[in-house]
Amino acid sequence: MTEHRQKRIVLGLTGGIAAFKACELARRLQQQGVAVQAVMTEAATRFVGAATMQALTGRPVFTDLWDPSIENGMAHIDLSRGADMIVIAPATADFLGKLAHGLADDLLSTLCLARECPLVVAPAMNRQMWENPATQRNVALLRADGVTVLGPDSGSQACGESGMGRMLEADTLADELLGLFEPKWLAGLHVVVTAGPTFEKIDAVRGITNRSSGRMGYAIARIARDFGARVTLVSGPTGLEPPPGIAVESVRSAADMLSAVEKHVANCHIFVGVAAVADYTPLNPQDQKMKKDARILSVELAPTVDILANVASRADPPFCIGFAAESENLDEYAEAKRRRKHLPLLAANLAQDAIGSEESELVLFDDSGRHPLPRAPKLEQARRLMEHAARLYAATNGQRGATP
Ligand code: C5P
Repeated sequence: MTEHRQKRIVLGLTGGIAAFKACELARRLQQQGVAVQAVMTEAATRFVGAATMQALTGRPVFTDLWDPSIENGMAHIDLSRGADMIVIAPATADFLGKLAHGLADDLLSTLCLARECPLVVAPAMNRQMWENPATQRNVALLRADGVTVLGPDSGSQACGESGMGRMLEADTLADELLGLFEPKWLAGLHVVVTAGPTFEKIDAVRGITNRSSGRMGYAIARIARDFGARVTLVSGPTGLEPPPGIAVESVRSAADMLSAVEKHVANCHIFVGVAAVADYTPLNPQDQKMKKDARILSVELAPTVDILANVASRADPPFCIGFAAESENLDEYAEAKRRRKHLPLLAANLAQDAIGSEESELVLFDDSGRHPLPRAPKLEQARRLMEHAARLYAATNGQRGATP
């Protein structure tokens, strides 16, 4: 994993029922090596105990501006000094209002005002409170001040209603926060990623597809976003939730994927072809469900267009990254594929090892040779691959992109 060990987050809890999710958030951040210092408003302590947060973070929890245990009586300065980020989760409508207007009448609001580090808020409130123009105005003011707003989500609420206002789940929040720490190597660049399988229609209900889960492509899209890129994800049918902050175009067939890619690729800097695109598609798909009988059935298949090779052979191609899933002779086949498709970078793995699984072992091939990436979760592999890509991109494109 990228090292988050030195990072320090001040986690501020305000008074909402979603405070219980902040317990899990603190735990997840701690597990990723982030030091969490909890600060709670008086109202937050009515929802979860300070002792709970103290046990989860291994640090005393502060609630009081006048806490005598703080050495020089400067809690609002001391607690946020050296913090890499202040995160308010949950952030109530009331607290967002205070932040938007620079009020500082308790410890948490005071240290938000006296901070040097970025501020992130995760709103949590009833649907009507969220939709209220006053709240929307406050959120717009906060955004304009450079505050990052994560969520809210929509769904069932503690009050029994359903709508926008639920705080993001702890795992989503933890992922988003860790993403904010990533270096912005791809800032200013547009990255297009294809992901997942395609589905080639045989008749009204049947088709040809494959076991690709889409996880690797989604992980790459997410890491590219975390590295600061504008990301377009062209995705075949998967059961995955796309990461927030990414433009997603959902497609079904290889032909749909090709036209979606052509729409976006003209002004992109990096193209990553991760999708397991069908190599063949039925020549005469039927609109009605075919009736079965005892005869042997043949379906004529026509080859599909190779989307990646197509993009790489454009007159002014983006930096193209391909994938190769091979079942044998990995090095030989992968490098041959890289050369045939004119790719500066190709990531190869053993098909039987990677497709549909949570982890993978990759070997990168580029003009300087082979670079093995030992087995790791797909998100970590995505980070290593995109770090390598950012370095190659910067080397070939000069000022565009920063050097990792
Ligand atoms: O030649 P092969 O299918 O093994 O190449 C795999 C690479 O090519 C992957 O990056 C995949 O996304 C891409 N590809 C494509 N369009 C196709 C077939 C493969 O973009 N029709």
